[in-house]
Parts: sequence; C-alpha cells; structure tokens
Amino acid sequence: GEPGRLAGKRVLVTAGGTVERLDPVRYLTNDSSGKMGYAIAEEAVRMGAAVTLVSGPSALAVPAGVTLVPVQSALDMREAVLARLTESQIIIKAAAVADYRPAVVAEQKIKKKSDSLTLELIKNPDILQEIGSLKTKNQFVIGFAAETEALDEHAMDKLKRKNCDLIVGNDVSQEGAGFGGDTNVVRFYDQNGLVQALPILSKWDVARKLLELAADRMAAAAGE
Ligand code: C5P
Repeated sequence: GEPGRLAGKRVLVTAGGTVERLDPVRYLTNDSSGKMGYAIAEEAVRMGAAVTLVSGPSALAVPAGVTLVPVQSALDMREAVLARLTESQIIIKAAAVADYRPAVVAEQKIKKKSDSLTLELIKNPDILQEIGSLKTKNQFVIGFAAETEALDEHAMDKLKRKNCDLIVGNDVSQEGAGFGGDTNVVRFYDQNGLVQALPILSKWDVARKLLELAADRMAAAAGE
C-alpha cells in the first residue's frame, strides 16, 4: 500500500493458531501457519503504522518493525489483545483461535490406563465478539471467516454477530485458498454486504488490498 497511508495509526493484528494444553507434554492446535496475519503486519508497517502482532506459535520470522507478543492459548490471546485494545485504531483478527479447550489441564502427564479416554472440552471466549462489543467509533475492526460452504451467508452472519467493520471471507475448500499456502482467494464484506471479490492473490497482495480498503474507510469516517 501507499507509504505513510497509515502513519500515526496503531494496528493490532492477531495471527497463527492457539495451543490448548492437555497436560505438560500434550496439546490441541490447528493448521494455521500465521502467514496471512504476518503478511498484514508487514504491510501495515510499510504503510507507516505502529504494529503489534499477537501470535500463537509460528515458524515465521517476525517482520522488521513489528512488536511481537507471543501467546499460546486462546485465554492468553484474549488477555494480550484486551490489554492493547484501547490504544489501537485498527484491530485485525487473522488468528485461528481454538473454539474449545480442555476443561482441565492435568498437572502431570496423563497416564495410559483404560481402552478409551474421553476428553471434556469447554468453549473458549470469542475474542472478536468481545472487541466488537467494546469498540468505539474511532476504531476499525476486521475479522476473518474461513468456510467450506455458503461463504457469503456465513461471513455476513459473523460480521453482524461480532459487530465488525469488515470481514474477510475465504472458502478454504477452494484451490489456492486458506491454511498453509502463500496464496488466498478472498471476499471483503461490510455491514451492507459484499464489497469486493478478489481473484487468487498472494497473501501479501491480499494484505495490501485489505489495508488500503481499511484506510479508505477510516478516512471517509473521519470526513477526510
Ligand atoms: O467464528 P469463527 O471462529 O469462524 O470466526 C472467525 C473470526 O473470529 C476470526 O477473525 C477469528 O480470529 C475470530 N475469533 C476470535 N476468538 C475466538 C474465535 C474466533 O477472535 N474464540
């Protein structure tokens, strides 16, 4: 994006998957690589923003100029995000947050005993939904929706339910989209519906287009 376009703005980005501990040596997680969120953080720096990246474990290098806050679980991520919420003008939730966590975290390694073992999981808080309910008119909140069917419908439902300004929908069943790869196929939605349907692009190009749209929308809201 245009250099300086986000000068003076603080951008908070979440990325990666969360790690939900079962015991000292085992955990539940997902396939998120963190690539989309890291690309957004890198591009936001290029556009002049002060960028904090709250990330679950990721093999990626931290982009130059980005402040990394490493986290493990959804509860850790929630705390890190809420602590930095009021100082942030743009909040982008690209993380794949675990929906559930083990109800108890065993203090010692769970021993092998019976032929079956049932894990009890409990729901994690929805961080994006909390941000949506706390956000002020000077804050711009962007969520992600990774879906395998009925993308438009599910993305719009999340946008409304979580009170986001924009949502990035991606059909992860499509070739070149979703987890792990360097490309994505996305659609941007606002409260009125579909804004843009993009072709297959690198995650860096998606990041640039997303941040340009956010900058346009914020400028319009500020009457610039
Ligand atoms: O409902 P779903 O998890 O698909 O929503 C995706 C969006 O919500 C993403 O932006 C994700 O980062 C955010 N999310 C969150 N906290 C959760 C679950 C999802 O912030 N516990």
